[in-house]
Amino acid sequence: MSKSCDASVATDPLAAALQRQFGWSDFRPGQREVIEALLAGQDALAVLPTGGGKSLCYQLPAVLRQGLVVVVSPLVALMQDQVGQLLARGVAAACLHRDLPTVERLDLGQRLRQGRMRLLYLAPERLQLSSTRQMLEEQHGGGRLVALAVDEAHCISAWGHDFRPDYRRIGHLRELCSGVPLVALSATAAPQVRADIIRLLRLRRPLLQVHSARRSNLAYAMVLRPADPLPVVLEALQQARGARLIYARTRRAVEAWTQRLQQVGLEAVAYHAGLEPAQRRQALAHFLGREQPVLVATVAFGMGVDRADVGLVLHLELPVSPEAYLQESGRAGRDGLPARCLVLYSSGDRIRLGWALAAQRDNEADRLRSHLAQRQLRRMEAIAEGDGCREQALLQAVGELVAACGRCDACERADGQRRDWSEQASQVLAALAQQDGLELNVLKRELAERQHQGEGHWGWLARRLVQEELIAESDDGAQRLYLRPTGRTYLRRPWPLHWAA
Ligand SMILES: Nc1ncnc2c1ncn2[C@@H]1O[C@H](COP(=O)(O)OP(=O)(O)OP(=O)(O)O)[C@@H](O)[C@H]1O
Ligand SMILES: [Mg+2]
Ligand SMILES: [Zn+2]
Repeated sequence: MSKSCDASVATDPLAAALQRQFGWSDFRPGQREVIEALLAGQDALAVLPTGGGKSLCYQLPAVLRQGLVVVVSPLVALMQDQVGQLLARGVAAACLHRDLPTVERLDLGQRLRQGRMRLLYLAPERLQLSSTRQMLEEQHGGGRLVALAVDEAHCISAWGHDFRPDYRRIGHLRELCSGVPLVALSATAAPQVRADIIRLLRLRRPLLQVHSARRSNLAYAMVLRPADPLPVVLEALQQARGARLIYARTRRAVEAWTQRLQQVGLEAVAYHAGLEPAQRRQALAHFLGREQPVLVATVAFGMGVDRADVGLVLHLELPVSPEAYLQESGRAGRDGLPARCLVLYSSGDRIRLGWALAAQRDNEADRLRSHLAQRQLRRMEAIAEGDGCREQALLQAVGELVAACGRCDACERADGQRRDWSEQASQVLAALAQQDGLELNVLKRELAERQHQGEGHWGWLARRLVQEELIAESDDGAQRLYLRPTGRTYLRRPWPLHWAA
């Protein structure tokens, strides 16, 4: 280490603590600002990219002050992962969740009372329990509470991609622990979601650290899934460095794909919520310990699992929303080296997912959420089927405007493949103009009978026109199509529609 570096560490207690406890010499963008705000008693909202180092923002203040930081986090697996990492660094940490054995709970209570705990992770529903409230009041009364942290804070917003009703109650924390600074953290929070976070968590004049969600080392590709995707999957696996993560939607699909890969000689391992805890631990150990593991999982896996050299994140189906996809793909390349994010989608994916969403609505709030979810799904499909820059489109969905990335498959595709579809678009719109709502299947058939192109082609074009908001589509999964007012305008005065085929 150079003299000047020594000097800066000597005069800078934050840098010294970072070096001493974590062994790192520099803060990442946004970290220092958030830490300083918390130490000064100010609330903060940190929107930093996936793998950007959000955890440090609330971990370091606890270490520096030798006090307690309480962290609300949505998943037990995520908490356990962080607790494990902290313990390995010699920082006292624990998580409090439903399945904690009584002996451990009592021990934890004692260590808390003795002020020997630095980080305590809580599932949001714990905040409803009087025992938890009492514990918080005690810690607060004893002057030990340094800060409160709400990780994955987008879960509080119905506009967010992973809404958790329990998160709504976190606002009560404020009353219990008045005067304690609160930091909310997320990698993907569109402006609307940020506003929800600030309002619902009652942040007081928070420091805002909003950094670009752009991950300049990730190369996105979204391709139509072939009838048998195995060759494409194998090729992608072969080309990728480091660990490889494959996402399937259902447990059944996870099992089936794991088997298929094993049959061709790959040491693939399955991970989903239906496995026994021991099996899950084994799968996780495999993923973290092997040199080039292949893990097939449902998307619940990966949140908080911090393996730096993931070279490939492959989705076997359309992700449910741009935000969710940014999170999931963000598990790739956390070491900053190039990594690939591949989506294999098909036109049936959205319908299947859409039906699943439509099945879940019993009351008004559910219906609103289902409506939002359908919209998110459409936006995701539009990005996959569109021919614009993937990264640009994904980031636009979280309210960020950036130039085309130059790395994704769409950017690499030659512009020459684009053509103007306005004439055929008019044919689709004209067919709809004669009816008051028409099912996609009927429309496809009618057009295929009259024109020489097949049903698949007309289906694709109709979906593009839904994405362009010239056609409306029913939310119930039945795919009834209606002409929108803009569609009528288009029929009177069409404009060019340039897309790749
Ligand atoms: N200042 C730093 N210097 C070097 N490495 C760091 C620094 N801060 C964090 N890291 C490392 O970066 C990785 C990502 O950190 P972390 O898990 O906190 O990211 P995150 O922002 O919470 O991401 P996600 O949104 O995916 O949860 C970890 O391996 C962490 O140890
Ligand atoms: Mg995190
Ligand atoms: Zn691009």
